[in-house]
Amino acid sequence: MKYKSQKIAEYFYTFAVLLFLVQVVVGIIAALQFIWPDFFPLKFNIIRDLHINALVVWLLMGLMGATYFVVPEEAQSELWSLPLAYFQFWATVVTVTLVVLGYIWMGFNPHANKFVFGTLLLNEGREYIEAPRWADILIVVSVLLFLLNNFMTMYKSKRWTGIQGTLLGGLTFLALMYLPGMFYTKSMVKDQFWWWWVVHLWVEGAWEVIAGALLAFMLLKVTNAPRHVLERWMYIEVALVLFTGILGTGHHYYWIGTPKYWLWIGGIFSSLEPVPLLVMVWDAFRTTRVHRVVTNRLGLFYAVAHAVFNFVGAGLWGVIHTVPMANKWTHGTQITTAHGHLAFYGAYVLLVISMIYITLPLIRERTDFRTSRGYTSFWVMTISMIFIVLSLTGAGMVQTYMERLVGLDYVTVKANYNLVFWIVRAISGVGFLVGVLIFVVDYFKLGHEPAEVGAKSNVSVTTHAA
Ligand code: HEM
Ligand code: HEM
Ligand SMILES: [Fe+2]
Repeated sequence: MKYKSQKIAEYFYTFAVLLFLVQVVVGIIAALQFIWPDFFPLKFNIIRDLHINALVVWLLMGLMGATYFVVPEEAQSELWSLPLAYFQFWATVVTVTLVVLGYIWMGFNPHANKFVFGTLLLNEGREYIEAPRWADILIVVSVLLFLLNNFMTMYKSKRWTGIQGTLLGGLTFLALMYLPGMFYTKSMVKDQFWWWWVVHLWVEGAWEVIAGALLAFMLLKVTNAPRHVLERWMYIEVALVLFTGILGTGHHYYWIGTPKYWLWIGGIFSSLEPVPLLVMVWDAFRTTRVHRVVTNRLGLFYAVAHAVFNFVGAGLWGVIHTVPMANKWTHGTQITTAHGHLAFYGAYVLLVISMIYITLPLIRERTDFRTSRGYTSFWVMTISMIFIVLSLTGAGMVQTYMERLVGLDYVTVKANYNLVFWIVRAISGVGFLVGVLIFVVDYFKLGHEPAEVGAKSNVSVTTHAA
């Protein structure tokens, strides 16, 4: 670690990793509730809230941690204010904890979610961003302090690199896109219209920009690839992400009461969204093939896997239901859920984990660390996730046919025709939890035990005629 203040990243990572564990445990409870609806004292609606909000929050915490590492590294200076960063960390932990306790309280006592000053006290609704208004405001303050600290670090050092500029651009876009989710309108159509700005323009806009910047940073750190080449490809990826992703929002405006032209705009632009994701895969493989001085093989392995599964989960599993002719039948079915899982896993779970494996050894000052657990957890998590996604895709196909073509109702299909998929999904969920547990143990042990030697070493130099 070059700068002492980069250690703050580890705080964010640790909180992220613990929330990851919570997310997956409640995910298994939710999966069991598909089979036995009354299985747990907290009902499915609350468990589902906890599952998807924990996911969003831990990924954001992971990305913040990663940024606190990248910005000093790129700016070649200490962070502008380390005390401010610690304050921002603890304030966020307290806010998130209060929000989670609020959801649980509401689960036991639904009337507790009452109107206070015209806003709901514990939960606002709006999937993925259910946090109540008071928490929204605290989150905005926290994010502003985070951005200020990083901008000032860059500004004071007067070193502007493409990577950190793109990263902070993506983060600013992310912060701005939180705001459309913060006001009520009486029209359900308008409410949904703005809500998608947050959800879609996050994962298919701002977060992909951040992923592009972090991919360039990771390849730079672990291979000997030249910066100007990595940055050139990063600009191409980011430009394509924005060109396709912004108007791609239209794929959520087909059936919610918005004008008809969205069928065309959404269909055309969102069909192009896989293109930048494919360029990222190519970029990752090209760099790996040509530049053979690798200082962190496990980190590079995860970075490449992130690029591949970003393309498969977001790109392929997204494009199959993105044109209006297909989406007309699959909208809101388990096909969507299958895509949601593989896209978030490939694009952002693997991104945060690869950033952890690339930066944590530097923070703990052990670049040659023991890696076997890292590979094992990858395979256990990924194979389990593939089974989760295949069972959901199967469930979605049956659901689409039985519900939308045959005309059976939702519950009949769910209870009678999809049971086998729910069983496979629940078992695979337990498998996924095993993978996460291996990762969590590895996270805490990394760098504190001797590394493998010889062929298994994490550092490699291969002479290669490119
Ligand atoms: C990393 C990027 C992505 C993530 C994390 C992601 C995640 C999600 C999630 C969670 C949903 C469900 C939202 C809900 O609860 O209603 C969704 C819906 C959808 N996504 Fe993605 N997605 C990504 C990229 C893409 C891409 C690139 C495409 C198209 C090529 C796409 C196409 C769609 C479509 C069409 C829907 C709506 C499904 C429906 O009508 O029910 N997504 N996405
Ligand atoms: C890193 C891993 C995971 C990610 C990224 C993830 C992501 C998500 C997302 C985005 C949704 C909302 C989907 C939608 O509305 O379309 C969701 C719902 C859900 N997840 Fe996960 N999840 C993960 C792991 C798990 C595990 C291990 C299980 C347990 C088997 C699980 C079970 C569920 C269930 C039951 C739902 C509710 C689905 C529904 O409403 O139909 N998830 N998850
Ligand atoms: Fe979208």
